[in-house]
Amino acid sequence: VCWLSPEQTAGKQKPYLYTQGQAVLNRSFFPGFDTPAVKCTYSATVKVPEGFTAVMSATTWEKEEKDNTFIFKMSQPIPSYLIALAVGDIVSAEVGPRSRVWAEPCLIEAAKKEYDGVIEEFLAVGEKLFGPYVWGRYDILFMPPSFPFGGMENPCITFVTPCLLAGDRSLVDVIIHEISHSWFGNLVTNATWGEFWLNEGFTMYAQRRISTEVYGSAYTCLEAATGRALLRQHMDNTGEDHLLNKLRVIIEPGLWGVNPDDTYNETPYEKGYCFVSYLAHLVGDQSKFDAFLQAYVNQFKFQSITADDALNFFLEYFPELKKKGVDSLPGFEFDRWLNTPGWPPYLPDLSPGEQLMKPADELAELWAADSLNMEAIEAVDISAWKTYQLVYFLDQILQKSPLPEGNMERLSEMYPKISKAQNAELRLRWCQIVLKNNHESEYSKVKDFLHSQGKQKYTLPIYRAMWSGSESARALAMETFSATASQLHVNVQNYVKKILGLEVAE
Ligand code: BES
Ligand code: ZN
Repeated sequence: VCWLSPEQTAGKQKPYLYTQGQAVLNRSFFPGFDTPAVKCTYSATVKVPEGFTAVMSATTWEKEEKDNTFIFKMSQPIPSYLIALAVGDIVSAEVGPRSRVWAEPCLIEAAKKEYDGVIEEFLAVGEKLFGPYVWGRYDILFMPPSFPFGGMENPCITFVTPCLLAGDRSLVDVIIHEISHSWFGNLVTNATWGEFWLNEGFTMYAQRRISTEVYGSAYTCLEAATGRALLRQHMDNTGEDHLLNKLRVIIEPGLWGVNPDDTYNETPYEKGYCFVSYLAHLVGDQSKFDAFLQAYVNQFKFQSITADDALNFFLEYFPELKKKGVDSLPGFEFDRWLNTPGWPPYLPDLSPGEQLMKPADELAELWAADSLNMEAIEAVDISAWKTYQLVYFLDQILQKSPLPEGNMERLSEMYPKISKAQNAELRLRWCQIVLKNNHESEYSKVKDFLHSQGKQKYTLPIYRAMWSGSESARALAMETFSATASQLHVNVQNYVKKILGLEVAE
């Protein structure tokens, strides 16, 4: 349970409380069977001080005005990690027929503007593809800046980082992702955290199906390419053979310990996405595979399952594939997907994104040259590029970094839209590039970014980059951590401590 002081909120006026259950943190919130293997309904009565509002991941909400008490009931069976509570100075605004945004008063207008009128389409496309949305409402709560995740799929009310308030809806893929968990994860749930890919891999696939329907395949493939780049980075950092780089992870004493959070990485997301894409590829017909996904949800809704349950159902659903023995094609064995670490044996075709990626690839190439061809560079107009196209471009620059002497400075001057960006995904990449190039004159941007938010997927890569950098980068890491540690979620604090070689209290 995270208790925030007023200074740790956006409005800085009132304290704030929130819970983050996934993976195994809810055992410190209430007594129960804190495993995703069992599901139950719940109800809660929450009395708060005057001037505060409580919200929970529940299907019905009531307020008893006279004693500031909120009464919640979740009428569908859910695993314990999906029980969530937030209390603070929070207000709401309607953004769709079954959706509101919730935020501190100082953020509510930005929140409404970001998502007004867009949520319903994602829900409707999700229902068309995967079957009924069973949770009643779909609301979004914008959390204080230290919230450690991009989004958390708490049923009825997704919790998200305020970093999503980019002003241009460019980070809406996170919302589509959390909406996709309404079927994959929240209805059909991994029975153990060792098979977390069942939640996240299927959700990445569902997210990109919805995205393809709404935004088309070029854009969606571009977004998927940035996901693939994250998987590449992760496997380069850990080595492909690392035991966490398989879909079925062993969580027991001795290896990384018993805390599933310590196994968190890109593999269940992006290798999981590749595996589900591979299953779709075996079927060969998108509408048949969509129908399978809908049948899968219907078969296992309100249950917790293992990968074997899922894959057996796949083979039963497609008897011709079963007869062909698709589960044991050499090099692509289902067993290999699950139990062998390494780069995915099958990668979905992202070539529809090429039209958006190619100009970014070419521009990155120009910037990596020993002597810059400014004429060619200036001929490329990036003003109309979408955020994810810029992200893709920056990932290419990062891969090619450190750039030849002097290029970094020119790059920064040339594109203030990037180097001075407020968009969190761009800021992350820019910080990484600054550090990889040891570009000390922009260290203040690294510091500012780390002071402004505490998302784990932004914070840890930056600390890793600082720690593997120069003396001055290491000093920056220490200085920034001592200033911001108290603001960070305790999990994130501990992971940063590990990176910096500081002692972690067990
Ligand atoms: N369920 C996860 C967040 C999570 C995972 C919390 C494991 C605790 C333990 C959520 O759905 C998620 O994956 N969020 C991503 C969004 C992205 C993949 C679009 C995030 O926070 O970055
Ligand atoms: Zn997820």
